[in-house]
Amino acid sequence: MKKILIIGSGGREHVLASSLAASDKVETVYCAPGNGGTALEEKCHNIPFTSLEGMADFAAEKGIDLTIPGAEVYLCDGVVDLFRSRGLTIFGPHRAAAMLEGSKALAKDFMKKHNVKTAAYERFSRADEALDYVRKAPCPLVVKADGLAAGKGVIICQNREEAETAIEQIMVDSAFGEAGSEVVIEEFLEGKEASILALYDGNTIIPFISAKDHKKIGEGETGLNTGGMGVIAPNPLVNEDVMNQFVRDIMDPTVKGLKSEGMDFAGIIFFGLMMNEKGVFLLEYNMRFGDPEAQTVLPLFEGDWYDFLTAAVEGQAGTYPVKWKKGHSCCVVMASGGYPETYGKGFEISGFEGLDSRIYIAGAELREGTLKTSGGRVLNVVAYGDSLEEARRKAYEDVERIHFGKAVFRKDIGA
Ligand code: AMP
Ligand code: GLY
Repeated sequence: MKKILIIGSGGREHVLASSLAASDKVETVYCAPGNGGTALEEKCHNIPFTSLEGMADFAAEKGIDLTIPGAEVYLCDGVVDLFRSRGLTIFGPHRAAAMLEGSKALAKDFMKKHNVKTAAYERFSRADEALDYVRKAPCPLVVKADGLAAGKGVIICQNREEAETAIEQIMVDSAFGEAGSEVVIEEFLEGKEASILALYDGNTIIPFISAKDHKKIGEGETGLNTGGMGVIAPNPLVNEDVMNQFVRDIMDPTVKGLKSEGMDFAGIIFFGLMMNEKGVFLLEYNMRFGDPEAQTVLPLFEGDWYDFLTAAVEGQAGTYPVKWKKGHSCCVVMASGGYPETYGKGFEISGFEGLDSRIYIAGAELREGTLKTSGGRVLNVVAYGDSLEEARRKAYEDVERIHFGKAVFRKDIGA
């Protein structure tokens, strides 16, 4: 029987833990540090997160068969290189490949070099040169801090003044710290967005069911950016034609690029796409499962996640018989009022009885047998339906049953 280690504490890590625990081959899933949801999940045990070295020691001592890091920071800090150097099995990209998410400048150079369809761009490591450039460039345009900025480092600028302010914030005032020592300035693309996660095993790439994220806090995509307030899958706009363009213009050139650069790993590549009349463009690579895309897409898989991920780390994902449910999945995020700015914590959560949806906890702890909120995004309500309408209706019925102090959610996920 197999032992798994999952590193991280969000809703994505909860769905990974529960999906792996569902395999007959899996005995225990350790979650470091996990959350109140993984604490309650069968076969799962929360353990403290110490450091990446500490996690490698734990994996070696316990004889962990497979480790899965959730978030990009661990990958960019080299958790995969560390585990591999100690002969430990881990699913995810090594540092050099993780930097396709960790550096937007590097990612854009990779896309250009390997003919991956993307917006035109320039990169700057000097503020005066960036300012000079935007004084002449057509607007709107997009200014992006190069490094990881928790989804906040992208500023869409309608005019020259906004672009100058963005450059000053990022490069002069260091609003995102070191992440802003370089910027990418990019052509603004009009269109509709889609997310496609895919599993790469170093040789074969297998795209999952498409998804649609809802990034803003407010209904109708208004207000501040968040980690994601809800997802539907499949994305109704990703038809066969879009999928074919994605494969031809983005996915296949990416794999060719990875191979030609000798980037050999098993992990997730999450393609952030923009679709318009000129085709399908790649906005960004994320080199990990999306949150809450994972909570929405993983439950649609008809198979054994342990077997599938193990096949991937053995470079054999192509032999796994991948099947997806025919229906639709709708994930509504319930958050704590005030998120993504300041919000309260410690509110008791109730109303889990008789739900049709699956609940994945994102920011709540188990204290004396009760779940209490501990984060901004508190939990994910994920419903399945034969139609999108059915999935939405079920998810929202269950959202109404769950209560905690100052709970907020978007009413228009998938509308
Ligand atoms: P990224 O982190 O690069 O995906 O950017 C975050 C969000 O900014 C995306 O989901 C888009 O909504 C928006 N965005 C990024 N780049 C562009 C672009 N070139 N044109 C229009 N919107 C963009
Ligand atoms: N939901 C977007 C992300 O995980 O980056």
